[in-house]
Amino acid sequence: MDHLLSIKDLTQEQLKELLSLAKKIKANPAEYRHALDGKSVVMLFEKPSLRTRVSFDIGINKLGGHCLYLDQQNGALGKREPVSDFAANISCWADAIVARTFLHSTIEGLAEHGSVPVINALSDLYHPCQGLADFLTLSEKFDDVSKVKLAYIGDGNNVTHSLMYGAALLGAKMTVVCPQGHFPDGQVVVEAQEIAAKHGGELILTSDINAIGEQDAIYTDTWISMGDGTDMVDIKAKFAPYQINTALMEKAGANYFMHCLPAYREVEATAEVVDGEGSLILQQAENRMHAQNAVLVTLLGQ
Ligand code: CP
Ligand code: NVA
Repeated sequence: MDHLLSIKDLTQEQLKELLSLAKKIKANPAEYRHALDGKSVVMLFEKPSLRTRVSFDIGINKLGGHCLYLDQQNGALGKREPVSDFAANISCWADAIVARTFLHSTIEGLAEHGSVPVINALSDLYHPCQGLADFLTLSEKFDDVSKVKLAYIGDGNNVTHSLMYGAALLGAKMTVVCPQGHFPDGQVVVEAQEIAAKHGGELILTSDINAIGEQDAIYTDTWISMGDGTDMVDIKAKFAPYQINTALMEKAGANYFMHCLPAYREVEATAEVVDGEGSLILQQAENRMHAQNAVLVTLLGQ
């Protein structure tokens, strides 16, 4: 593993190893206190963040490393100087780059032109760190993740893509339910279905919310992602039947609700579900740090 740009770049074995290492780090943090001694990580963020920024910063600190956050004072990535110069310069001093960008191609550019590992902290296409934390969370609830039935309902987006790859690699069954015109990227669907077929998993796509079937967990995300200028009034009308509420959870027999956060209560899900007993949102948020630390130890650990 040279970088973490997308879960699709991992083998099933690598994904399982990351999840198992994350569990070890979570259970025994003292053992990894010096894993990143003397290592510096630069974090470049083009978009806002709470969970990703804080969990990387504190996580790197817990591993003995040092983290430097760069906001947009120098102008958006690629504006004041090319992405290639950004990557080459940072590689002179830092041991890794964590980047949250509008375009996935910017993250690919950092990886191509830098000489240190690059970790995708969210792009328009993928959110692999979120996906890792989510499968870590599911693996804490279910002994065999390959048997989990996961439904994603709402806007087909970066989070959906990473979940689809993760579920496919682990051989799980995933159902994606989106309004017409809001399905995940077609190429990602084809790739995820190929990966699922290889590992005994299944990926179903539908816009019929009534065809949801039995599920173990239901996942949703914001109906409008960062950088998407669509009008919420139009979106709300189109997405209303796809809101996650208690009736839907009960219909699917789903014990668990998942959301990457930030959550908009009474929009994509009711407050009753978001804050209900079966909600895994804080476990997912906590697991961001453990999953990312497993990535950092794998890429940089000594
Ligand atoms: N889930 C997530 O990535 O949260 P932030 O945007 O706050 O980092
Ligand atoms: N799909 C959301 C995820 C936020 C963590 C976005 O890209 O804004």
